[in-house]
Order: sequence, then C-alpha cells, then structure tokens
Amino acid sequence: MRQSSLVLVANRLPIDDSQAPDGACEWRRSPGGLVSALHPLLRHTPATWVGWAGGTGPAPTLPDVDGVRMHTVALSAEDLRDHYEGFANATLWPLYHDSVEQPEHHRRWWEAYQRVNQRFAEATAQVAEPGAVVWVQDYHLQLVPGQLRALRPDLRIGFFLHVPFPPPELFMQLPRRAELLRGMLGADLVGFQRAQAAHNFAQLVTRVLELPATDRRIGIDDRVVRIGAFPVSIDTAEMSALAARPDVAARARRLRQDLGDPRQVILSVDRMDYTKGIEQRLKAYSELLATGDVKVRDTVLVQVAMPSRERVGQYQILRERIEREVGRINGEFGRVGEPAIHYLTQPFDRAELAALYRVADVMAVTPLRDGMNLVAKEYVAARVDDDGALLLSEFAGTAAELSQAYLVNPHDLEGLKQGLRAALRASPDDVTQRMRAMRAHLQQHDIRAWARSYLRALDEGGTLVSRLSSTDGSPEDGARVPRPATPAGSPAAQQASG
Ligand code: ADP
Ligand code: F6P
Repeated sequence: MRQSSLVLVANRLPIDDSQAPDGACEWRRSPGGLVSALHPLLRHTPATWVGWAGGTGPAPTLPDVDGVRMHTVALSAEDLRDHYEGFANATLWPLYHDSVEQPEHHRRWWEAYQRVNQRFAEATAQVAEPGAVVWVQDYHLQLVPGQLRALRPDLRIGFFLHVPFPPPELFMQLPRRAELLRGMLGADLVGFQRAQAAHNFAQLVTRVLELPATDRRIGIDDRVVRIGAFPVSIDTAEMSALAARPDVAARARRLRQDLGDPRQVILSVDRMDYTKGIEQRLKAYSELLATGDVKVRDTVLVQVAMPSRERVGQYQILRERIEREVGRINGEFGRVGEPAIHYLTQPFDRAELAALYRVADVMAVTPLRDGMNLVAKEYVAARVDDDGALLLSEFAGTAAELSQAYLVNPHDLEGLKQGLRAALRASPDDVTQRMRAMRAHLQQHDIRAWARSYLRALDEGGTLVSRLSSTDGSPEDGARVPRPATPAGSPAAQQASG
C-alpha cells in the first residue's frame, strides 16, 4: 500500500458515482461546500483523500484526481441507511442547525456511526506514512480522530467541522454526547467556522467531560488539544477568472435573453435542504408579487435547488412542499412564456454556475442556519464588474465576513421582504461600494489562506504549508490559534489553563 505524508479524510470523495442521462455510470464532482473548498486546494499535492464514492457495495478503485490519490471506503446499504442518512443526517445535521427539524435518536444509528468511523480510521491508518499529517473533516466522522490516535499515535491529527457546532442546550440532547466529544479530542487541533462554536465546544467539554478547557486549549490525558475558528473559503481567483472568460460572459448575456430580458434577475443556488430557507424565501417573493412590489414582467427569480439526501424523509417532504409552492406561484403570477420562477434541480458545471452568478442582479442566500455558505462567496468572486447585490442571512457563517451584504433575518418574513426590496432598489453606487469591499475581503481570505492558517497551526514547524501552495496571502487574523505553552511534563490541567 502506497502511503502519503498528507491524508485528507472526508465522508465523500471529490467525485462520485452517478447515472448519466442515458443510464450509463459516470463520475462527476460531488455536491456540497466541503468538496468545493478542498478540491482546488489539494490539486497537484502529493496527498491521499480517504472517502466514500457515493454508492453501496464493494469499494471501486478510482484513478488519481488531479494528482491526488483516491482511497475509497465502502459503505453497505445498511451503513448508508444508518450512518449517513441516519446518525449523520437525521440526528446530527438537524441538531447542529438549531433543530430547525426534529433530530431523531436511534441506538442502531449510533452503532453504525461507530462502526463506519472505525472503518475510516483503519483505512486512514493504512495510507498514512509515519508521522504524517491527517486532516479529518466534518460531522460524519467525529469519532475518527480518537479512533485513529489509538491505532497510530505517531500521526499529527487535525479535525475541522464545516457545519455549526451547537450551544450546550442543544448538544446535551445527544444520548452519546460524551463519546462524540472524546472522539473529537483525539485531534491535536479542532477547527470550527466561528469563534462561538469553539466556545460552545469548550463549555461542553468542561460540563460533560469535566476537563480543563478554555476557548483555545483543552487538556486531556497528558496532551493539549488546541481549538479555534478558521472560516472556510473558496478559490476566489479561480472563480473570478472563470467569470471573466469571454465565453462565460457571452453565456450570461444569452441566459438573460432566454429569461426574457427582464430588468432584474434574482438568483438562489442551494442544495435542497431545510436549513437553506428556501420555503421562507419563496413565501417572501410570493407576497411581494401579490402586493405588486415585484412585477413578473420586470423581475424573474431563478431558483436552483439541487436535490440532496433524497431518501431521508424530511428531505422528501421538503422537496414536495417546495415544488407545490413553485407550481402555485407560477400558476398564480406567471404568464404564458413568463414564469415568475425558473426552477432548476440539475447539477451545473462550474462555467454554467459562473454564468448564472454573472446574470444575477440580486443573489438571495437566506439560510436559517449555515456553517459558512460558499455560494455567497462564489457570487461575490464572480462579480468581476463590482456590481450585484448580495442578500444574505445573518445566520450564515459568511455574514461575519461579508458584513457589507444586505443582511436579513430569514425567520422574519417582513424583514426578508424589506431586504429583498432594498436589494432590488439599491442605487448602483451603493451596490458597487458594498461589492468592492466584499471582493477585497475575499481576495485576501481565500481557500489557500484558510488552509495555511489551519495547517500552520496543526503542523508546527513542518513543511506542509509550503508544499500545499506557492501563492502568498495572509491568514485570517481572528482565525489564528496560538501555540500552546511547552508542555514540559506539566499536568494537563496546568497546560490548559490561561
Ligand atoms: P453546502 O455545503 O451546505 O451544500 P455551500 O453553499 O457551502 O452549501 O456549498 C454548496 C456548493 O455546491 C457550492 O460550491 C455550489 O457552487 C455547489 N452547488 C450548489 N448547487 C449546485 C448545482 N446545482 N450544480 C453544481 N454545483 C452546485
Ligand atoms: O458542508 C456540509 C456538507 O454536509 C458537507 O460535508 C457535504 O459534503 C455537503 O454538505 C453535501 O452533503 P452530502 O455529502 O450529504 O451530499
């Protein structure tokens, strides 16, 4: 077995097994923010990515993707049901997103979660060379750091959570809360999107495990685990370059024509998920149409909603409700050849997404809760003419960075309508000023800056960062995790205090 000095471990590989329209099997880029963030980063780095290829049954052998080795972990139909759809996406996902849907608790799901995490830990232990850096990603794999440390104490282990980490009142509902916390503490560095999440984690560790913890470091056994906030980002330069391509600009012009040359285009691009606030947004839009604040002849809404986790009951119900509502709104307000909403559930390649971003005068990103939301960042990166209004939920992690967006509370229907009206009616000067500030922020705080700040903190004194990327950029200031005091044999309690 070939081994690597950098191993990335995530539930999904960056490509997954899907059906082409003609029924043939094809590989395509996996959906979601995690792959969008990490795939450009690792390109041409001698690394191994350990993950699941999206199907069930024996693990397929995949070719390297952009020079990165793919190491597949197999999931059986039962693992898929109980680990991925069950514990990960029907227990943890809703709980971590403010319980906007009710989390379910089943002992069988927990057993599957432990079993699948152990399988990922064992696969990783095989492909990591001695002393390698291993970077474990997201809520599907919270036990892996602890399990891996037990198998391979020589490794330097990082864990990063892409989704929100909830306040103690919510997390305490989990029957196996202590095991989940202990699993994460197997890492040397635990990273979150927001400082508040690191704070929640420290509080829980103190309360549940009775360990000494601050918002920066936690003492466990004879080790110190560092924690901190590292807001994830995108490949800003790549998205800007794509959006500036003449063929993409031409495609955007063509899209506008195809939409009937409206005065304004509103765009939303979401995974079809109840956390994304799609229903609330449709309701706000429909009320604006009803009052005449928005007119179908002037304005169109393009809603891209890519189906996700389609066998989970809550997602099936959501899709039915959204499609019923889109049908109702089009039936009530559309005209022949002029629908009020253009509704698309297809995957798009990056160039088509960039063209969609370019055509959008207003981008509505209004999740009820979101760890980060990379779509909002992609839109800003694609606005190469410094125009376009971003309507953004206060409850997206992105809002902490893109504070010049038109911020709204998506739970407040009147506020949402007001925000949408404000974004549609904003003066070009106001729009440009805001967009310039957001673009300047993202040029500095891109995916490489994120990785550098995280890996620097994890791989103290190592060469990993220089190997990852040669481009320079400054890491997120508030995202730095200070080095701990030298342990020098002092007890963990002393190391953790202060
Ligand atoms: P999440 O991780 O919850 O899915 P993010 O907004 O952080 O949400 O990331 C979503 C990613 O998926 C973005 O990079 C976006 O471009 C991509 N994406 C969303 N919808 C589509 C689609 N229909 N086709 C292709 N990519 C999509
Ligand atoms: O960003 C959150 C996340 O759950 C990622 O971990 C995941 O890759 C993405 O959303 C898409 O979800 P899924 O892998 O369930 O399709």
